[in-house]
Amino acid sequence: MAILKIARMGHPVLCRPADPVEDPTSDGIKVLVSDMLETLADAGGVGLAAPQVHYPLRLVIFHVPAARAAAERYQDAGLDEDQGEVPLTVLINPEIEPLADDTAEAFESCLSLPGMMGAVPRYTHIRYRGVGLDGQPIEREAKDFHARVVQHECDHLDGTLYPMRMSDLSRFGFIEDMKRGLADDEDSGGEEER
Ligand code: NI
Repeated sequence: MAILKIARMGHPVLCRPADPVEDPTSDGIKVLVSDMLETLADAGGVGLAAPQVHYPLRLVIFHVPAARAAAERYQDAGLDEDQGEVPLTVLINPEIEPLADDTAEAFESCLSLPGMMGAVPRYTHIRYRGVGLDGQPIEREAKDFHARVVQHECDHLDGTLYPMRMSDLSRFGFIEDMKRGLADDEDSGGEEER
């Protein structure tokens, strides 16, 4: 087990398309995933893609913590079905299919852009597929924050960082300073969706 160094925006490993994982069940992949889990726990994010830790492979890990799922339930009270918490998921060679044209904009941050946040449009309803560490297929539908996290992580596998998806760079900046403006606008203090 080891905490890995996280590449920051501008590093070439974040700019190139990642390579498919040939054997998801190999010992090398198990060690990489174990180190990525430890790195994510240490850094405190909701997801991490292998290129962010200098392995240009099509592999991501993510979760939707209960606190975050509860916050969304509160915001969307009465809307749609509640997807709730998503356990830590290892997704290898993932593919994403949008299930509707609808997009929504919400603030994201990324361990490769420490201290920054920006409002990013994402599909609100997707299906994703891939394989797990056991080599078994994974196929899930995801909405809202869950869908956003998966799109963000999988973008890393194609060399895309969230600012490259933004339509309005005036909504990109340092978290500490952006939150001053958001606190003036509304009570939520940082999370918004439009
Ligand atoms: Ni990221």
